[in-house]
Amino acid sequence: KKLIIINGPNLNLLGKREPNIYGSLSFTEFLDEVVGKYPDADIDYFQSNIEGELIDKLHEVGFSYDGIILNAAAYTHTSIGIGDAVKAIETPVVEVHISNTFNREEFRHQSFISPNAKGVILGFGLQSYELAIQSFICRT
Ligand code: DQA
Repeated sequence: KKLIIINGPNLNLLGKREPNIYGSLSFTEFLDEVVGKYPDADIDYFQSNIEGELIDKLHEVGFSYDGIILNAAAYTHTSIGIGDAVKAIETPVVEVHISNTFNREEFRHQSFISPNAKGVILGFGLQSYELAIQSFICRT
């Protein structure tokens, strides 16, 4: 299975940024550990703080990969463009959030990704990403 994790703005600061909410592990430390656990999956990683670059990446992988794990971060709540891109591509997208966005500010309750996502996983810290990987690997 060819999978990609796409992280949006400010997620390059994971480990340093509000560790009470997002934890103190950097994403690359986490990813190294997780990738080793799923040798059958080929897992790419992309992060950008720029909305258009996230859209370009969705277009690039969205007709050939088996699955996309997308944490669009703040753009989740603002970007019709990223929402439209998720709708336009063929590869299924699982939306992920580290925090439970529903027990935070009201403006985090809306998502432009969710209506076109295969599923949504949120609130489990970095484990949310691992659950998303499993969702593409495990068949029941
Ligand atoms: C986030 C939640 C968003 O509301 C926030 O803007 C982020 C991270 C999360 O993973 O919990 O940057 O997507």
